[in-house]
Amino acid sequence: MNQNTWAAVDGYISEQFIPSDAVLEAALEASAAAGLPPISVSPAQGKMLMLLAQLQGAQSILEMGTLGGYSTIWLARALPKEGRLVTLEAEPKHVEVARNNIALAGLSNLVDVRLGKAIETLPLLVKEGLGPFDFIFIDADKPGYPSYLPWALKLSRPGTLIIADNIVRNGAVADAASKDANVQGVRRFNELLAAEPKVSTTMIQTVGVKGYDGFTMSIVQG
Ligand code: SAH
Ligand code: DHB
Ligand code: MG
Repeated sequence: MNQNTWAAVDGYISEQFIPSDAVLEAALEASAAAGLPPISVSPAQGKMLMLLAQLQGAQSILEMGTLGGYSTIWLARALPKEGRLVTLEAEPKHVEVARNNIALAGLSNLVDVRLGKAIETLPLLVKEGLGPFDFIFIDADKPGYPSYLPWALKLSRPGTLIIADNIVRNGAVADAASKDANVQGVRRFNELLAAEPKVSTTMIQTVGVKGYDGFTMSIVQG
């Protein structure tokens, strides 16, 4: 088994279950044309996020790390018409591309893209009385994950689903000696989750076009 097999099967999954979608493809094309890195969730992962948000009956979603809005569009499609998604992004160029992609997707009325470092914008959400969110997707800078967890908890309620991306990092997550700041960030995040009585957590390993990686899945306890 190797990357070619994983990518081929991801192609097969898309062919079977994810009809070609002009809006999502345009979002990826516009993101690439603007020079954004090709690190959006894969189509199969995006659909998984949408299905989880539907399963959750989510009316409010918080995302950290917007990039060009690809995962945002998948998630926003799970919302009812009075729903709301707030997504946090530090790079002005990414915000501009994402806002445009979200507008072309017809989702601007549901989606609020906030410019700024998540550690600075998260407290503002609390001050504004936003939340609790039904679904929280953490996908911004990995060294920041440990500092985002307390804010995610403040902005949640019993039953909130918290998903964090890029947790496995080609297996490096299991290497306690790793010097990589991204690996150290997700390892610390996992330790905090494990020690946090307010959540019940597992990790899911994934392979596909983006290689070998994974998600944590946590439910805030009552
Ligand atoms: N969720 C997106 C991918 C996000 S990539 C998708 O799947 O389509 C990670 C994003 O987090 C990048 O756009 C990066 O600019 C942003 N980011 C990095 N550091 C950040 C920070 N401190 N606060 C908010 N966003 C940050
Ligand atoms: C990176 C970030 C992501 O959110 C991702 O899904 C893949 C890679 C990165 O920063 O390299
Ligand atoms: Mg990611």
